[in-house]
Amino acid sequence: MTIHIGAEPGDIAETVLMPGDPLRAKWAAEAFLDNVRCINQVRGMLGYTGTWNGHPVTIHGSGMGMPSLSIYANELIRDYGAKTLIRVGSCGAMQPHIHLRDLILAMSASSVTTPSSTILRDLTFAPTADFSLLEAAATVARARGLAPHVGGIYSSDTFYDERPDLDEQMVRHGILAVEMEAAELYTLAARYGCRALAILTVSDHLPSGDRLSSKDREQSFSDMIEIALQTAFASA
Ligand code: HPA
Repeated sequence: MTIHIGAEPGDIAETVLMPGDPLRAKWAAEAFLDNVRCINQVRGMLGYTGTWNGHPVTIHGSGMGMPSLSIYANELIRDYGAKTLIRVGSCGAMQPHIHLRDLILAMSASSVTTPSSTILRDLTFAPTADFSLLEAAATVARARGLAPHVGGIYSSDTFYDERPDLDEQMVRHGILAVEMEAAELYTLAARYGCRALAILTVSDHLPSGDRLSSKDREQSFSDMIEIALQTAFASA
């Protein structure tokens, strides 16, 4: 057990999928894994371990925002030996050519700060996806008839952001979308020699203000879980 995860040693698989919402972790584990058991419920942050095509997999919530994700990713990596961590989440599109429901593979994740900024000090570190996962996810998505956008995203500390000037610079510099977790996930993976990737579906379109319905969010989440599972083991 760690401070935030009630699992026993050996309860967590080397491959971990991380949705933000703990109830999505429950739903995905029950829908896609065999031999599922709940391995964490501390503070309502649910984690499940089971098998997918015979491979051990854990699906564990990250919570919203980098401080929350950092707690779980640190403990999953350092205390339980997670090696491949794939975030599956939603994002807000920042470019006009990106549409609701589109798939985004985050090659890099810019930010203003992350929980790791204090140790990185004056270094502007570039949090980057693992290439083997990125390449596999693009191949898996294309084989399913999708055309994923692959590029830079922005990991924000604020959902209700009151910095339109910052958005302008993101758009100007080709940032595809905004979410709130990937930069810290990539930074921790780099620090501990793990593989990480964020697979995102566009749930909001910032330039137009359009949003996905909850039914569409559910369907896109299900597609992302399948892509994440195929990616994890295509590139292992
Ligand atoms: N901002 C931050 N995170 C998000 C958004 C957004 O607009 N949409 C989905 N995740």
